[in-house]
Amino acid sequence: MNLDGDLTEVSRAETRLQKLKRMTTSDHQHIDDMVMAMAPFDSRGNYARFLGLQYVFHRLVKPFYTADDLNVLIPGLSERSRFTSVCADIADLQCAVPEIQTPVAVPDAGMERLGWLYVCEGSSLGAAFLLKAATNIGLDASFGARHLAGHEDGRGKHWREFVDQVNGLALGEQQEQEVINGAIAAFDFFRILLIEDQKNAA
Ligand code: HEM
Repeated sequence: MNLDGDLTEVSRAETRLQKLKRMTTSDHQHIDDMVMAMAPFDSRGNYARFLGLQYVFHRLVKPFYTADDLNVLIPGLSERSRFTSVCADIADLQCAVPEIQTPVAVPDAGMERLGWLYVCEGSSLGAAFLLKAATNIGLDASFGARHLAGHEDGRGKHWREFVDQVNGLALGEQQEQEVINGAIAAFDFFRILLIEDQKNAA
């Protein structure tokens, strides 16, 4: 088989989630760099800023987790939200909840919501590294950094279940594009939160 043929085989074999990851790799890297630049694990004050952004993000995505139609497509979805854990972390640290207006259009129906959910669920993977770093400032899965903890079934297993569920959905071409658009919008939103935070901290 020639090179073109090989490439066609590769792209045919790419799953929906692999494509999502490929399409958003640089968005993720940007967010990763910006979060690290905040030095969230250098002090509890810095961590409180990061936690505030997590609060805004998880609160925004919460209605997608509880949407009836999405729960039919992805059984158990509503139990995946980490918003309650974020709130418990805020209560542990007695920090303020930021007043940030949403400068992006948030979908109230359609498959863009799935893209937002991908970003939120995927962030639980990187959270493994963040949880380790949180021990520097005396936080762990039972105090202050609850939302970074892995699921009781295992972080990787829990994620792979979501991946399999999303990969298994039958979607039309337009819906496929909506999922990608939603993931990009979610990363954009988190980036805007980080930029707002930088302005406030300056
Ligand atoms: C300093 C902060 C962050 C670090 C160091 C980080 C690191 C990572 C790492 C190492 C992975 C891959 C884990 C694996 O494959 O086992 C990952 C996955 C992911 N992270 Fe992050 N992350 C950070 C912040 C975020 C944030 C804030 C979001 C969302 C707004 C996010 C969204 C994602 C997504 C969607 C994936 C899944 C990618 C995929 O496999 O499809 N990350 N992250």
